[in-house]
Order: sequence, then structure tokens, then C-alpha cells
Amino acid sequence: MRNKLRVLALFDATAPTTIDHDLSSELKTEDRKTEANVLAALDELGHSTEHLAIFDDLDLLRQKLQRFEPDVIFNLADQFNNNSAFDQNIVSFLAMQGVPFTGCGSTGLTLCKHKAISKKILGYHRIHVPAFVTIARGKRIARPRRLKFPILVKPLKEEASLGIAQASFVETDEQFKERVQFIHESYDNDVIAEEYIEGRELYVSILGNHRLEVFPIRELIFKEVPPDEPKIATYKAKWDEDYRKRWGLQNQFAEGLDPGVLSNIADRCKRIYRLLTIDGYARLDLRLTPTHEVYFIEANPNPILAADEDFAQSAMKANVPYSQLIARILRLGLNTMRE
Ligand SMILES: Nc1ncnc2c1ncn2[C@@H]1O[C@H](COP(=O)(O)OP(=O)(O)O)[C@@H](O)[C@H]1O
Ligand SMILES: [Mg+2]
Repeated sequence: MRNKLRVLALFDATAPTTIDHDLSSELKTEDRKTEANVLAALDELGHSTEHLAIFDDLDLLRQKLQRFEPDVIFNLADQFNNNSAFDQNIVSFLAMQGVPFTGCGSTGLTLCKHKAISKKILGYHRIHVPAFVTIARGKRIARPRRLKFPILVKPLKEEASLGIAQASFVETDEQFKERVQFIHESYDNDVIAEEYIEGRELYVSILGNHRLEVFPIRELIFKEVPPDEPKIATYKAKWDEDYRKRWGLQNQFAEGLDPGVLSNIADRCKRIYRLLTIDGYARLDLRLTPTHEVYFIEANPNPILAADEDFAQSAMKANVPYSQLIARILRLGLNTMRE
């Protein structure tokens, strides 16, 4: 790889932008932490970097590509027109422009976003997934008898624990119906209802295309949550600092896993990554039951890359400093075969 590349860092935006939109004050805010961290790393690596934030105007991107002629796009855009369902369409557009980009392609993004299709693929390959049903908007809401309580009711295609609260955990048909209806109406989303898997909440970070590296595992611990209460990474559990303090929620490195369990998790996660056709980097959400069974919960291609988030923390623990991580993601992006 040439040492110095022309890199276009591509961001999403929540309101219309222009081609030379000044983001300098935004880049100092918490909301743009990932973008700021990645830009700083690209700078440190000596690349010639420009950035563009797009809201709903692909023509802006086309113009930018013509003017700047980047060697590679560092893709941090995961919504379009305030809709996170369009992340796969953005990368489809990039692929059609024929310019290399970092992270996952459209197939991997599509498969992982759909929490039922991903589980069907993995279940077919005998990877443990929770039993589930999907309930589309407008369909009659009834729990099939084979689906056992407790059940977790989630939006079928959301991210970042949107729509996931303590009330998502249901133990009766009445609660089930109420929560499904709520997700249909308030989140305008179809529903996936999964049997609740009790166990440790593990996050496994993986980097690579063909040869995969599995980084040390992170865990969300629920220190002050009483033992008989459900332990769920709800929206508040992820994003509300006061709530996290109150319930003693902490992301830390998983401790005390024995070597057999660790290598089982690593092998399982590599298989999952390949089966879901993920490129570049991803974080897998798992549950480890008290009897050491590993359950797949969700795959997150293009996970948050901020230096203080789980993915980068895991890489650092494996002696991959942040700027090296960004360099490797860039190199993988340059070398990925796209459709
Ligand atoms: N079947 C399940 N059993 C136990 N906990 C679950 C299950 N599904 C989701 N959760 C909990 O809810 C959290 C969010 O669910 P997830 O499917 O990862 O949604 P998101 O894409 O919003 O992160 C998980 O991290 C986990 O704590
Ligand atoms: Mg998740």
C-alpha cells in the first residue's frame, strides 16, 4: 500500500449539508466523537484526508468523488435521510461508483440488520440462536405456543437498543401483546420476539476479511441489578450515564472465562462472521449461559469506532493502538472484493 493515500471520510448528517460544510464545531461534540477520533488517526497516519457529511443528497457525494478523487472512502455513514435502514444502500452506491471503501458491504449489512434472517442462517448451521417469531405490522398479534416465556420483544431492524426497555421483557400474553403493539405503533417497525436467554452479556470484536483476528472479549456487567431481575442492555443501559451509575452498569474486559470456553467463543464468532458475509470489522453480541452455552444475539458490522468504545478498547488490549487499528481497517477496505 502506498504510504500516503487520499482518504475521503464519509459521515452521515441529521440535516441537509453542503459540499464544503464546516463541521469543526460539531466535531468537538460527543455526537461526533467517532468521526473526530478517526480523522485524528488518519492525520497521524499522514494521509491526505478530506471529509463529507451527507444527509439525503447523493449528488453531493458524486461531486466530491469527482473533485477529490480519493483512493479509498472511510465509511462512517450509517444512515440516510435520518433512516438507519439505508446504510446498505449507501454502500451499494459506493460499490457502484467503483471506489474502495472501509467496512462491510451491502449484503453483510442487510443480513445483520434483519434480526430474523441472520438467525435463520445461523440456526441452519447449528449455531445456537434464541427461538423467535416475527410479527409484521398489521398482522394479528398472537404468541405461538412453542415460544416460551420469558420473551424479549424487539424491533426487527433497529440498532443501538432503540425500542428496548425493561418493558420489552414480557412474561404473560397480555404483556406480550401490549409490547408488540407498542413497537408496531411507536417505532413503526415489525417485531421479533425472542426467548430470553439468561447469561453473561459478551461483546466480541473481530477484524479481517479472510484471516480473522478475534480481540479480547468485553462484557457488560450489571453490578447493582438484583440477581432475579432481567439483565438487558436497554436503551438507557447504553446511553444514560445516570442510569448506568444507579444500576452499576459497566463495560469491562470479561474475566474468568476458561480457555476452552474462550476458544469455543472465538471459533464460533469467526464462523458467524463468515456466514453473515461480514467484511472489515464487526462486534458480535452474545450471551453465555450458566452452563457455558454460547448464544448468538446480534452481529454489528461497522460498530462504533470511537477510541473509548468496546471495539477500539478490545483492539488496544490486543496491542493494536488506535491509529494502527484505523490503518488496518483502511488497508482491509482497499483490499476487499466487492460485488
Ligand atoms: N434473546 C435475548 N435474550 C437475552 N437478552 C437479549 C436477547 N435479545 C436481546 N437481548 C438484550 O437486549 C440487548 C439489545 O438487543 P440487540 O438485539 O443486540 O439489539 P440492538 O441492535 O438494539 O443492540 C442485548 O444486548 C441484550 O442485552
Ligand atoms: Mg446489540
